[in-house]
Amino acid sequence: MDREALIHQAIEAMNKAYTPYSNFNVGCSLLLKDGTIITGSNIENASYGLTICAERSALFSAYSKGYRQDDIVKMVVVGDTDSYISPCGACRQVISELVNEDTEIILTNLNKDIKIVKKVDLLPFGFSKQDMKK
Ligand code: THU
Repeated sequence: MDREALIHQAIEAMNKAYTPYSNFNVGCSLLLKDGTIITGSNIENASYGLTICAERSALFSAYSKGYRQDDIVKMVVVGDTDSYISPCGACRQVISELVNEDTEIILTNLNKDIKIVKKVDLLPFGFSKQDMKK
C-alpha cells in the first residue's frame, strides 16, 4: 500500500473520532508486515482524563490482535492542524515501546504537510524496559 492510501485510511479514522469536548479529531493508521491496515481515532470522555488518543487507540488495537513491534512497518498520524501533527507526550512514550526502530512514522495534516520520523526522533532518551534492568 502506498503512502497516499495509508494517509487516506488515517483520515477516514479521523472522521470517526468521538470528540464532543474538544472537537479536535485525530486519526491513525498502521501498515503491518502482512499487509493488514489497522486504524484508530481519539475517543473522549466526560471524565476528560480517560480520553484515548488516536495513536494509542490504533497501537492497542494492533497488539490486541496479536501484532507486535516488528510487524508495524508504517504509522500515519493525521489531524486538522496548521502544520503536520505533533503527537502528545503520552503517545510518544507508548509509540517508543510498541513500534520498532525502523517503523516509518508519518505525521501529516489535511493540507498534506508531512514529516517522516523514527521513534527516536519523537522521544530521545526515553524511559524503557532496559532502564529496569540492573
Ligand atoms: N489527541 C490525539 O488523539 N493525539 C495526539 O497526538 C494529540 C491529542 C487528541 C486527544 C483529545 O481527544 C484531542 O486530541 C485534544 O487534545
